Amino acid sequence: MWKEIEPAPADAILGLTEAFKKDSRTEKVNLGVGVYKDATGATPVLAAVKAAEMKVLEAETSKSYMPIAGEAAYGAAVQKMILGDVCDRAATVHTPGGTGALRLAGELLRTFSSKTIWISNPTWANHKNIFTASGLTLQDYPYYNAETKALDEDAFFAALETIPSGDAVLLHACCHNPTGVDLNAKQWTRVAALAKANGWTALIDFAYQGFGESVEADRKSVEIFLAAGVDFFVASSFSKNFGLYCERTGALTSVTATAADAATAISHMKAAARVSYSNPPAHGGLIITTLFNDPELSKGWKAELDAMRERINGMRSALAEGLTARGVQMDCSFITQQKGIFSFSGLNKEQVKFLREEKAVYIIGSGRINVAGLTPDNINGVCEAIAEAMKR
Ligand SMILES: Cc1ncc(COP(=O)(O)O)c(C=O)c1O
Repeated sequence: MWKEIEPAPADAILGLTEAFKKDSRTEKVNLGVGVYKDATGATPVLAAVKAAEMKVLEAETSKSYMPIAGEAAYGAAVQKMILGDVCDRAATVHTPGGTGALRLAGELLRTFSSKTIWISNPTWANHKNIFTASGLTLQDYPYYNAETKALDEDAFFAALETIPSGDAVLLHACCHNPTGVDLNAKQWTRVAALAKANGWTALIDFAYQGFGESVEADRKSVEIFLAAGVDFFVASSFSKNFGLYCERTGALTSVTATAADAATAISHMKAAARVSYSNPPAHGGLIITTLFNDPELSKGWKAELDAMRERINGMRSALAEGLTARGVQMDCSFITQQKGIFSFSGLNKEQVKFLREEKAVYIIGSGRINVAGLTPDNINGVCEAIAEAMKR
């Protein structure tokens, strides 16, 4: 079967981690894959998550199947988190991670409304693979201006104005991956008005809730779309903000114009889930539901999330100051203005190659740096290496 088949290319981001693991240099630093790391370079289990997990294990009496959509309590917790409260115009299914939610949305969009999905240029590399695999055609909309290191606002809105009725548009709720450049409330209001006027469907990818400003402030995009009364999807990932990466914990929420539409939506979401993964993995969802229903654990989780965000912001400042102190010919203020765990550094492919080969600093080819991979121990070495790469 495989004789005449070309091997598939390695995943750009996870492939880099493989190369990093094989590197025997002790000073090596991985700023590639988007996982949070603490000041010691570890990706910790959050204390509130661990405590909720113990409660889950104690209460567990069976490992029978989950409902296709997951537990109702999980759907309610997700809606409270992304919409502020449960909503009768919203239908939520528990999915295997944010990737599972995006793929399910891709299937539903292709089946019921869209041939084409518009994605930002640039975007998370896996978006292209997911939506191509879902049978959708891809189109780019301009997003990032490499010169100003900010939103290319005119080009962005000019492209959005042309998107026809029935198409789908992928938007990042906050902490845009890879640029860290987000829309403000006024811009979101304009985007939601365009979706309503022109009849396209937004799919809001919400993978970093709490890493921008706070759990509440980061959902403004979703609240603005909810208030606009249009149909849209939200794909939630709890990999980063609960540190549940390997538990594959996410959700797809379809927000509709009426409660009757939400009932139709959930029936098709369940049908699509059933033929894809049948029903969701239980463990991560049970942890989130347990944590959400315990005020002390919820408080503890929020404090841990705040601390993760503040550590990243501290590293942003240290990176900007470290580069400036080493005489880099660049205004580094954009590094502290970007939101989330990534900084779009502007490093080109040659510089990225130099950093990997000569300095054992691993960054993906687009120049995206995982700021959460910086620690007090490696920051000076990384600044030194980047400054040298930029001067070459
Ligand atoms: C923008 C974006 N969306 C979705 C995901 C998927 O997350 P998950 O690991 O939960 O599948 C990621 C993960 O890196 C991401 O960066």
